Amino acid sequence: MESVLLPSLLLVAAYPRGVSSHHEWRQSPPVPSGTSTPFLVRLSPELEAVPPGGSVWLNCSHSCPLPVRSSLRTQLRQGKTLSGSGWVSYQLLDVRAWNSKVRCVVTCAGETREATAMITAYKRPRSVIMEPPVLMGHKYTLRCYVIHVFPVGFLVVSLRRGGRVVYFESLERFTGSGLANVTLTYVMRAGPNDLWQPLTCHARLNLDGLVVRSSSAPVMLKVLALSPVSKAFASASIAALVGILLAVGTVYVRKYLAVQTQL
Ligand SMILES: *[C@@H]1O[C@H](CO)[C@@H](O)[C@H](O)[C@H]1NC(C)=O
Ligand SMILES: *[C@@H]1O[C@H](CO)[C@@H](O)[C@H](O)[C@H]1NC(C)=O
Repeated sequence: MESVLLPSLLLVAAYPRGVSSHHEWRQSPPVPSGTSTPFLVRLSPELEAVPPGGSVWLNCSHSCPLPVRSSLRTQLRQGKTLSGSGWVSYQLLDVRAWNSKVRCVVTCAGETREATAMITAYKRPRSVIMEPPVLMGHKYTLRCYVIHVFPVGFLVVSLRRGGRVVYFESLERFTGSGLANVTLTYVMRAGPNDLWQPLTCHARLNLDGLVVRSSSAPVMLKVLALSPVSKAFASASIAALVGILLAVGTVYVRKYLAVQTQL
């Protein structure tokens, strides 16, 4: 007669973490012996992750002992610059592309060399929340919310029962340019073996080698015994919707995978 237990929800809060940056000299091609001055160019950090709309400073330094011409080539908007002996620091503003290449080009005594850096804009979900399952007849409706994530086109949301993936959905067809909320709804038939198995929801951003994972606190399917209420439901046929609801700004995108379920 019991229906569904409702463990309390837990917010998995997380903030974008900077990608560790490497401080290596990018060695330019070997210098032919003779006339030209050997020098090195370095752009640091080489890899930086910022929240969408954020800004970043990149430091281009070189070992040329002479006065140089140096410039930063990028599609990103440039802000302030600072400079000192052997270096120029550039501010890049409003980073919204999820991946941007930046080049620093330095000319020393007639010879030109460059160093590159990559700026990634992403936002780890502020939270991934699994709602307590709702029992109707023999079926549970599972709902998972992924809040404030970017870029949503690189997101895969999956549901696991006892650690095994029961359903996943890739959002690669969505190209929103801002923070998004994703709601995944899934209707699952559960048998006695499914009781006490933790259900979790997982969000994975796969950014060209940088993988960012967040997951929900587990919820449990507890008791399957039919209550009078669920018996009533069992005798009826109800429509259940399975799918993804994506909110980006004020735009909502829906995709329903299965519309009719027979109980
Ligand atoms: C830029 O890099 C140079 C060389 O590593 C360093 O001396 C300088 O302080 C840096 N400037 C800034 C603003 O970080
Ligand atoms: C996403 O969810 C958060 C928290 O519920 C809400 O504050 C925000 O307005 C939502 N954003 C969109 C684009 O729906």
